[in-house]
Formats: sequence, C-alpha cells, structure tokens
Amino acid sequence: MNHPETLATLAASVSAPANARHVRLLAWVREIAALTKPDRIAWCDGSDVEYDRLCGEMVASGMLKKLDAVKRPNSYLAWSDPTDVARVEDRTFICSAREEDAGPTNHWIEPSAMRKTLDGLFDGCMRGRTLYVVPFSMGPLGSPIAQIGVELSDSPYVVVNMKLMTRMGSAVLDVLGSDGTFVPCVHSVGAPLAPGQQDVRWPCNDTKYIVHFPESREIWSYGSGYGGNALLGKKCLALRIASVMGRDEGWLAEHMLILGVTSPDGDKRYVCAAFPSACGKTNFAMLIPPKAFAGWTVTTVGDDIAWLKPAPDGTLHAINPEAGYFGVAPGTSEASNPNAMATLRANVIFTNVALTDDGDVWWEGMTATPPAHLTDWQGQSWTPDSGRKAAHPNARFTVSATQCPSLDPAWDDPAGVPISAFVFGGRRSDTAPLIVEARTWEEGVYKAATMGSETTAAMAGGKGDVRRDPFAMLPFCGYHVGDYFAHWLAMGRRVAKPPRIFAVNWFRKDRNGAYGWPGFGENMRALAWIVARCRGDGRAHETPLGLVPDFDDIEWHGLALTRDAFGDLMAVDTGEWARELAAHDALFAKVGARNPEALRRQRETLGRALAAA
Ligand code: GTP
Ligand code: SPV
Ligand code: MN
Repeated sequence: MNHPETLATLAASVSAPANARHVRLLAWVREIAALTKPDRIAWCDGSDVEYDRLCGEMVASGMLKKLDAVKRPNSYLAWSDPTDVARVEDRTFICSAREEDAGPTNHWIEPSAMRKTLDGLFDGCMRGRTLYVVPFSMGPLGSPIAQIGVELSDSPYVVVNMKLMTRMGSAVLDVLGSDGTFVPCVHSVGAPLAPGQQDVRWPCNDTKYIVHFPESREIWSYGSGYGGNALLGKKCLALRIASVMGRDEGWLAEHMLILGVTSPDGDKRYVCAAFPSACGKTNFAMLIPPKAFAGWTVTTVGDDIAWLKPAPDGTLHAINPEAGYFGVAPGTSEASNPNAMATLRANVIFTNVALTDDGDVWWEGMTATPPAHLTDWQGQSWTPDSGRKAAHPNARFTVSATQCPSLDPAWDDPAGVPISAFVFGGRRSDTAPLIVEARTWEEGVYKAATMGSETTAAMAGGKGDVRRDPFAMLPFCGYHVGDYFAHWLAMGRRVAKPPRIFAVNWFRKDRNGAYGWPGFGENMRALAWIVARCRGDGRAHETPLGLVPDFDDIEWHGLALTRDAFGDLMAVDTGEWARELAAHDALFAKVGARNPEALRRQRETLGRALAAA
C-alpha cells in the first residue's frame, strides 16, 4: 500500500513510532483507542530501558515491590487481587460462527451477541490509564513458523511480563512491515479511573471475559490481569488460536514441554510431554538426572507450549513459541528443581509469593523449614503457625528462558527439533500406572484423548477432583474436541516416522496416601526407558493397556524402590478400570458424533483386553 498522507496522519493520531508502517495496525489501534478512551497511547519498544522505567513506575504506584538488590538482583514482586489468581475457565469463550465448531468442551456465545457485550464492556474501560501497544512474536522473530500478535493492554504489568515471555518490541514492527499478518489481542483490566481517582494495587473487575474469535483470529480479554488471562500470547494465541491454525494448515499447537535427552554414547532424542496445568511440565523440562545416570544430560527447549510441524525428514519438528517461563513457584526448590532455582537468581517477576523480612521471596516447599516471619501474598504478617499458606498455591515466576542453565542449544532454532516421543501424564492418585507405551499411534491418541487428571490451583476453582483432560488441552483447544482427535489421527498418518506415544503417572499414591513414586529427578528412570524404546534397545511386554517395562528393565541404581512397590505403581485394578472405562464412555458420549470411529474401536479393544485379563 502506498498512501503516505493516510499513513502519516494515522500514525500521528495514535502517536506511533516511525517503523509502524502498517495501515491496518494503525487504524485498529485508533479504533480501539476510540472505544476504550485511554488518557494516552504508548508504543512499546521492548528495550531494557522501557522495562526498567515501567517497573519503576509500578514500584511507585505500589503494584510492584523491588526485591533486595543483593539477594534477588533486578527482581520484583507483585501481589494480585485475591479474586484474580488463576485462569478463569468458566469465563473463557470460543466464539466460532457456528456453535458446533466450538464443541462440547468450550463455552460458546454467538459472535455478534458477544461483540455487543464486548463493545459495552470496553467502552471507556481504559479511562485514566495508558493504552500500551505491545507487538510480539510467538516463535523466533521473522521465522516462517512464528506468529505475530499485537496486544493492546492497559496493564504495565502485562507489558513487562510480555517482554520476558515473548520476543516483544520494535523489531516485531519491522518484521510486520506494511502488510504482515498479526493476531489482534485487546486486553483491559476493566478498571477505568475517574479524574483524580487513586488506583488500587491490582486493578481488575469481577466481570471477566476471555474471548476468542477463531475465524477472524482475534482475542479480547476483560477483567483480569493474571497470567494466561492477560498475557495473551500464551494460552489465547499460542494454544487456542494456534490450534485452529494448526487444524487448518496441518500442524499441532500443544500444551507440551519439549526436552532433549542425550545418552552417554552421544545419541540425542527430543521428547514432548503434555501434563495438565501444575502437573510437572516445568520440573520435567528441567530435570537433572540422578547420579546413576552419569553421562546423561537433559536439556530444556520449552516448559509449556509446543508447535509441531511435519518436516522433510519424515519426523515431526517442534518449536517452543515462548521466550520465557511463567512457572508455578510452590514446590520449586533446590531439591525438586535446581535448574529452576538457578534460573530465578535474578531478573524475575514473582507474583503472589511471600516476602521475607530481608526483601527476598519464599513459597511453600522452597525450603524445608519456613522462615520465622514473612509477609504473605495478601500483605499480611505471617508465621509458620498462622495456619495459612504464605504463597498462593498458583503463585508464579516470570523469567527469561535464556537464564535457564539447562537451556538446549537449539531452543530457538526456527527449524525446531525432531521429536522421538510424546508423553502424556495426568495427576492420578490411583488407576493410572506409572508408565505404559502405546502399541500404535491410534492407541496412543486414545490414551491421550481419555486422559484424566485431578484439578489444581492453576484452574480457578480447582479442587482436586478427577476430570477428563484430553491431551492436557481441555481449557486450550480452540475448536471441537472431536475434530481435534481426528486431526491428531490424521497427523500420525501424515508423517513417515511418527513419535512413539507413552502414558505416565508420577502421582500415584500408596496405601498410606503418600506418593509411591519419588518423581522429580527420579523421573529420569522412566525417561531412560522411553529413550531406550525409541532407540529400539528397550525391552517391554504386552499388557491389556499396552507395552510396559519389567522391574528389571528400569535402572534402579541409587534408588531404593522395591519390586513390590513398583508392582503397586504398575498395577491395573479391575474395579478402578471399570470406573475408568465408564469415564471414557462418558467423555465419548459428550464428544458425540464427531468422535472418530478409530477411537471407538480402540475403546472396544481395550474393554475386551481388560475383560480377558
Ligand atoms: P503449568 O505452568 O500450569 O502449565 O504447569 P506445569 O505442568 O509446568 O507445572 P509445574 O511443573 O510447575 O508443576 C508444579 C507442581 O507439580 C508442583 O506442585 C510440584 O511439586 C508438582 N510436581 C512436579 N513434578 C512432580 C513429580 O515428579 N512428582 C510429584 N509428586 N509432583 C511433582
Ligand atoms: C496453565 O495454567 O497451564 C499455565 C499458567 O501455564 S497460565 O499462563 O496462567 O495459564
Ligand atoms: Mn500451562
């Protein structure tokens, strides 16, 4: 396009920088500003200077606390409103043109009705605030697999988090040029300020809407400033919208970590693993092998999201579209995840953890003995006997991936890494065995589709009850889940060398209600068997559920886990599996007519195999 006057006038009207040359972008910013009526518009360049300035402003306004410069250099702490602490699944909408395209697992509202609601909510919602224009790239800047988004947000907290979580700033505008494609993302905390009105520490609104229009690939988020509700590149773009792109274009957008594992002989494999929210992806992605695994290394490509595409070599290649980690703090310690602790030494934004008296952070599980006194995540004085949690269970850290000691050298290679195995794992106190390999792609898809998991604090209202969480994507699939299953089945046929598929459960409990599996670094023992299976030198035997290792097929050196305890972890209980199959049936009934026939056949085969056992 070549309308220099139009462009210059438009750019001036929204105070755009010289490299904002995209007429549609400029017009859209002006349109949203006219609707939301901010006091000013600020284009974010993504520089350190901008980051430091915004953090300084938030310290002045009380939204952030600066942590001790020696104990936690260049780091900040935010405490959210107690009503705004996690994703809000019941307020998340997929507004496809037709209801049946959102499917039975998504909330749907007719698009024009939703647009009317949003128009009302966003009218004047940024009064008294700054509208930040945040250009970002999911995936390496300028790479053919990357997707550009532009988030318009009235939250400076969002801006600084987006800088750590994505490739954000001025360079994105250069890549976008005058006619590049971008996903428009509008975000407001929904708390306009009247002239002279004092702001609160964490502005938000009781009314919340997290809305996706999959056909026009737009995102609108209102009322929350927290995590995946507000950092719109993550769940909204890189999962919900990207899953729709993947369906249409023949690729996959998944809630998966990506890790590399190198055997002592130098053979390197990459593995993707899908576990539901707060079920161990970050820990697994940063695993440090125990002593018995001298010569093995595990490296981190990503901890939350994978985009997978068929590559010319016949494998699926995965990239991590993010540039940082928004990880669960509670439970993270030198014992459970030393790589995460090293990653968090400096340059971190913590949210909803506790503040120590010397200006550092603490959360449940960080140290065996809690400090004698803290200020909890709600700003209250806290002692170990106060009977409350010092950190919110879904407290998080935001940090750049480049600080991770185990970062894989190919972590931002636009070509991605070839995937040898998919691992699916729920949080199950019972029923699901420690590890099973699917015999075929279809059987693997069945296992992933029917996966159950206990809900966690990462989901608002999560109370620990078991729900079906297909592919750990229940809250993130942007279209009909039956079509999603069919897409997975088709992807397996499209690649000559599809990854092997495994199901794991690190969370099975013993008779005393304690975890029967040590987990964390010890998960290497299961990972090594997975790698051996991929290499073709790992033994397995057939069971009704699939292929499993014998006790002697796993490296036990340095871990006192008895043959009996392993047997308990692998046990398939008839009564439990009768209930499990009923839950699969209920899921498939809910999926309805779009549930692929191949999965129904898998269900029949499994039922017969269990009955015969
Ligand atoms: P999201 O970021 O929410 O998508 O989740 P995530 O899967 O990355 O969660 P994360 O790895 O941070 O999981 C955090 C929770 O899982 C904490 O409560 C950990 O203690 C627990 N956890 C992680 N790995 C293990 C394990 O191997 N065994 C057990 N028992 N718990 C684990
Ligand atoms: C999850 O809930 O799966 C997360 C955290 O990774 S959030 O980005 O808040 O959705
Ligand atoms: Mn996640």
